[in-house]
Amino acid sequence: MKVALGADHGGFRLKQALAEHLKALGHEVLDLGVHSSEEPSDYPDIALAVGRALQEGRAQRGILVCGSGVGASVAANKLRGIRAAVCHDTFSARQGVEDDDMNILCLGQRVVGTELAKEVVRVFLEARFSEEERHRRRLRKVLALERRT
Ligand code: RB5
Repeated sequence: MKVALGADHGGFRLKQALAEHLKALGHEVLDLGVHSSEEPSDYPDIALAVGRALQEGRAQRGILVCGSGVGASVAANKLRGIRAAVCHDTFSARQGVEDDDMNILCLGQRVVGTELAKEVVRVFLEARFSEEERHRRRLRKVLALERRT
């Protein structure tokens, strides 16, 4: 799968580890920065870069890392077609895709350990939207909310 990956300075170190992990799992990584922890950065800019990659079909899923994961998810959810959430556990990462069609996983480098983050990422990318009617109905309502604003 093509995965767009981005981080602000607060998530740079974890992003680098995840980039290697993704390649080892056989995924294609589109690394949208930042490219150094010294590079001053604002998470909305990185969220926009990763969100655009999904909107334009250059990636199927995205992963955003900031200090907590929160800023990145708040920003990413402003973008049409983006469903982002902070998940620091495998249950949420799987169910977020199966039930809610989450397409961007947000992680907090200051919150989650590298090994757990790798496992959460693996589960997120293996999960698929269930297509069950009740979840499709809820997704349609989410998309209607998006169109109204
Ligand atoms: C940056 O210091 C920090 O605010 C950011 O990485 C993130 O934690 C925001 O939610």
